[in-house]
Amino acid sequence: MTQPQPDQAAGKSPRSAPIVPSPQPLATSAPRLVWLLLATICLIYGPISINFAWHLFLDKAPWLWDLIYTAIVGQRQARGPGSAFLRQEQAYELSRVALLVHTMAAGGAVMLAVSQFSTRLRIRRPRLHRTLGRVYLILVLTGMATATAYLLQIGPYGTFDGPPFYMLLWSLDVGTVLAGILALLAIRRRETSNHQSLIALNFALLFSAPLLRLQWLVFGVLAPDATQSTIVLLSAAVAGVAVLGGAAIASRHFDNRRRPGGERPEIISSGAARNTLALAAVAAICVSVVFISVGEPVDSTLVGTVSSAAAWLALCTLMESRARQRRDALAAADWRVHRVAIATIGIPLAISWPLLSIPFSVHQAFESAALTAPGITMTLGILIVLWQRRSIQSAG
Ligand code: HEM
Repeated sequence: MTQPQPDQAAGKSPRSAPIVPSPQPLATSAPRLVWLLLATICLIYGPISINFAWHLFLDKAPWLWDLIYTAIVGQRQARGPGSAFLRQEQAYELSRVALLVHTMAAGGAVMLAVSQFSTRLRIRRPRLHRTLGRVYLILVLTGMATATAYLLQIGPYGTFDGPPFYMLLWSLDVGTVLAGILALLAIRRRETSNHQSLIALNFALLFSAPLLRLQWLVFGVLAPDATQSTIVLLSAAVAGVAVLGGAAIASRHFDNRRRPGGERPEIISSGAARNTLALAAVAAICVSVVFISVGEPVDSTLVGTVSSAAAWLALCTLMESRARQRRDALAAADWRVHRVAIATIGIPLAISWPLLSIPFSVHQAFESAALTAPGITMTLGILIVLWQRRSIQSAG
């Protein structure tokens, strides 16, 4: 995994007086282990993705995913009622060219991403790192352009699990492209730390694909009686929070700021945080009252969203208090933003649920809003942290 690089070395001029190094938030071996784990998953899933759509063109082509999925979760969940096998084959046939290019480009991108996070390659072969970076971005943009074509062609009822999954895929699509473009702009401005953090966000969103499939296998084994449809919604709710949480942790790892002595940066003031949290509490109460009055069921989407958001909130709170204990004001300020971000998911939920109820049913609108709300506030939190980092760096 890459180590943070001082932006000064990349052309920024240091200005301020006494500086003390900000301690690394992760133990030195942890990033390497995380990188190894992510690399293993990407290198195993990449070829499975690349191969995914071949059977739509050649009858005799092997279909690795179907073989693995059926062998692990069994025929009923993999091919029975509520499975993608039964529901999606027609849609896949209809958009097979877009799906082929999407699965091959996105599969290639996650495999290539692994090498881009290697410090050794970046330091010893900077030109190769830049060339591979360009290829990676082309693959990502190709994968997302074909995903967009697929989504437009198939419409909200054509994706697996209908509108909720459709809305989630759109948010992933937009978020991935946005993070990729911002990462490119950051490196053009020689903001190494923000470039690394934004590429980590971009990769985290892409990583949702292998993570989802891994969850389908794990949850599928743990809940053999559930349908794939239920498992997919539960996995999507958990994966959304998990990948963005991972991106927030990576952005701390790539933070190369040095702490000006005595300064207490406040990304959001206590008053603003209090007001935002109060608004979020009102929004959450309104959503809960409507939820109960319309008789919404407590299903896998809600359980997945609430439990993963609660776990992330607890982790942010813990990390913020640990940062305060070691007097790391910069880390504490970052964690506070991430904590407020996850605590405010009620706000986009309260806004998007009624809006999405116009094109979709009330239930589909709720599931769509619940799947996308954490992504909205968590991404905003990461972008606010990076924006603030930029202004501290240019002031430092
Ligand atoms: C992060 C942005 C991504 C978006 C917006 C996206 C979008 C889509 C869409 C719209 C479908 C069709 C789903 C359906 O019919 O219900 C799909 C399927 C698929 N995608 Fe992606 N995708 C993304 C990332 C990836 C990545 C990174 C990979 C590979 C590593 C990948 C591999 C696949 C595969 C193999 C399928 C086939 C269907 C399946 O396994 O369920 N996707 N994707």
